Amino acid sequence: MTPSPETTITSKNITVSYGHITALDNFSVNVPSGIVGLLGPNGAGKSTFIKAVLGLLVPDSGQITIAGKSLTTEGEIIRDMIGYMPEHDCLIDTFTAVELVSYMGQISGMQKKDAMPRCHEMLDFVGIGEERYRPISSYSTGMKQKVKLAQAIVHDPKILFLDEPTNGMDPQGREEMLDLVKKIRASDKSILVSTHILDDLEKVSDHAIIIGEGRLITEGGLEELLAGKESLRVVKVRGQAPDMEKFLKVLGDVYEVRSITPESGQTSIIILNQGDGTPIFRLSKENNVQLRAYYPHKASLEDVFVGAMENKGGDQ
Ligand SMILES: Nc1ncnc2c1ncn2[C@@H]1O[C@H](COP(=O)(O)OP(=O)(O)OP(=O)(O)O)[C@@H](O)[C@H]1O
Ligand SMILES: [Mg+2]
Repeated sequence: MTPSPETTITSKNITVSYGHITALDNFSVNVPSGIVGLLGPNGAGKSTFIKAVLGLLVPDSGQITIAGKSLTTEGEIIRDMIGYMPEHDCLIDTFTAVELVSYMGQISGMQKKDAMPRCHEMLDFVGIGEERYRPISSYSTGMKQKVKLAQAIVHDPKILFLDEPTNGMDPQGREEMLDLVKKIRASDKSILVSTHILDDLEKVSDHAIIIGEGRLITEGGLEELLAGKESLRVVKVRGQAPDMEKFLKVLGDVYEVRSITPESGQTSIIILNQGDGTPIFRLSKENNVQLRAYYPHKASLEDVFVGAMENKGGDQ
């Protein structure tokens, strides 16, 4: 694995243990520039990887470089270049957002006179209004997430680490957060975003690193990782039980049926697609069931995982 000029982070055989738990197991990856998703289920090792790259924990073995600089020998230079939005609460509750973000700017090496205007600019950017003068303890989860983002970018870092940035946010808040991430990207930053939500990643990123049980499962373009999964289709139908039974039988004769799930007032079926959907329309009509929906099945993180594991098996 040779790092390309586009590589922002290189991890070579990183192993991290917490007591007898091996959180990262000989983990090697080259993280390209742009927005890269670090995707994996709970406990996969995403936060551990981010913390190891940030130098917040020392690996048992392996090497990490950021923008070609060694974490071990050039840590000081690296620190100015990076911003970090942690997964869990990192905010000092008694501070106002203004106090916190300007303070974090100063910790990152900014002069007080520069940190204050920059702090207001960043709070404007993330959408914190007059509430910025209230203590953080009075903020909603969504507002806290925005302040966490503002403190991560106050010193204008080149490389950003966002650990589950949409954590605990409602759908609208999540959209807003992902829009902010895209805007930051437009200012020529590299961003590593950890998440277990494939949908979030599809909105902001085109490259994903998939991690499971501390190991690299696969990495590549999202499109490539999702390839092959598009051949599944969702069919939603409604009808009387005897008609439905007949329909499911003839459908099974024509298609490979992957799952049948009863939903309120309808049945959701996943089939392996073959050619166009003409038989679906014909069979539903012939069997007196109402076709409510027919669309490509969207791959889930689990599908991508299973696909990646199957491909791995095929390569060996
Ligand atoms: N401080 C710690 N002490 C002991 N074990 C830990 C500690 N932090 C993490 N672990 C363990 O290391 C493994 C990887 O954890 P990590 O937090 O990196 O996963 P993650 O992918 O970020 O998960 P999540 O999606 O839940 O945030 C898990 O088995 C976890 O229980
Ligand atoms: Mg985590």
